[in-house]
Amino acid sequence: MKPPAHRDVPLCRPQIGPAETKAVVQVLESGWLAHGPKNHELEKQFQALTGAPYAIAMNSCTSALQLAVQARAIGGEVILPSFTFVASANAVVTAGATPVLVDIDPVTRCADPAAIEAAVGPRTEAVMVVHYGGQLADMAPIAKTCERRGLALIEDTAETIGATYRGRPQGSFGDGCFSFFPTKNITTGEGGLLTTHDADVHRKARALIAHGIESTTLEREKAEKPWLRAATFAGYNFRMSHLLATLGVEQMKRLDEFNAGRRRVAARYLAALAGMDGIEAPAVAEGRTHVWQMFTVIVREADRTELLKKLRSVGVGASVHFDPPVHRQPRYRDAKIGPSGLAHTERVAERIVTLPMDPGMSDADVDHVVAALRWALATTPRA
Ligand SMILES: Cc1ncc(COP(=O)(O)O)c(C=O)c1O
Repeated sequence: MKPPAHRDVPLCRPQIGPAETKAVVQVLESGWLAHGPKNHELEKQFQALTGAPYAIAMNSCTSALQLAVQARAIGGEVILPSFTFVASANAVVTAGATPVLVDIDPVTRCADPAAIEAAVGPRTEAVMVVHYGGQLADMAPIAKTCERRGLALIEDTAETIGATYRGRPQGSFGDGCFSFFPTKNITTGEGGLLTTHDADVHRKARALIAHGIESTTLEREKAEKPWLRAATFAGYNFRMSHLLATLGVEQMKRLDEFNAGRRRVAARYLAALAGMDGIEAPAVAEGRTHVWQMFTVIVREADRTELLKKLRSVGVGASVHFDPPVHRQPRYRDAKIGPSGLAHTERVAERIVTLPMDPGMSDADVDHVVAALRWALATTPRA
């Protein structure tokens, strides 16, 4: 079998249009570059998306995750899946808590509700679900566990902007921690946002992103002595700049368009991959709307390293999310693992491949990836 002709299809191309460019240039020319009114506009967009009464734009999802733990003064255990980007576990540790790693449901690749329930112990204070690649975890039993056991619920929503579970959006179950990294459903280059239903978490997290100072620049401008800045916490500088907030506001106006584009690409992939030997195509679980932040397949037997090299040799920017899983990271080799073990995590991490996905992909781009995958599977030996 001959390889298809080379065609560049990167893993993801950010979609920045003229509206984004114009708005950012206007802010550049206005001279107001740090925290400003667009931060609050972006926050309002996320309040509307999630139904949460509070939202705080910041510099990354990792910061949002850390502050969701820290603002509650959680110092015990936080249950989360091992199959995630290491940032989720890092945020638990930097907030001063201890991660307990649990297995995933092999279909959604999100934390398995039964594994979470089994891992709850006397030191457990919170559950951090990670919604994987555009699809929400099975939230009904997870929310029930949290309610019954009195645990905080944090949603790592880095990969699911716009997804729903039984009609409810991400961030409506617990604190939503969003990422605007370039591969995500909207982007500001780097950036993140925390949504919460808890007034106290909101108050503390808003202060913690700005050196522990509870008033914002905009609020101080209206005060009698705007130059006084009172710090009530030892905080950080986790703020988002006005420039990036402006970009985020324009991107959010296009969220539905972007997610519709991702669904179109996913539908073409799924039609082409149905019944293809050697892989398991992704599935949409019952009651969920999928926003396809990633399109991942499981490679059954072929040597994954060789397969990835072959895909890349014909221009397909395939990658892997996530290997190593958290418990295989050098920092987390001694981490506590839930009683159900990590069998699904091990297999999925070893066998998963991420194919290119962005709403700007043409039919010809998708067809090239599919042809490249067919060729690579047919010519790659077993692992
Ligand atoms: C599941 C998950 N959590 C956390 C993060 C970290 O996001 P950020 O880069 O915005 O800190 C990412 C992004 O890469 C992610 O995929």
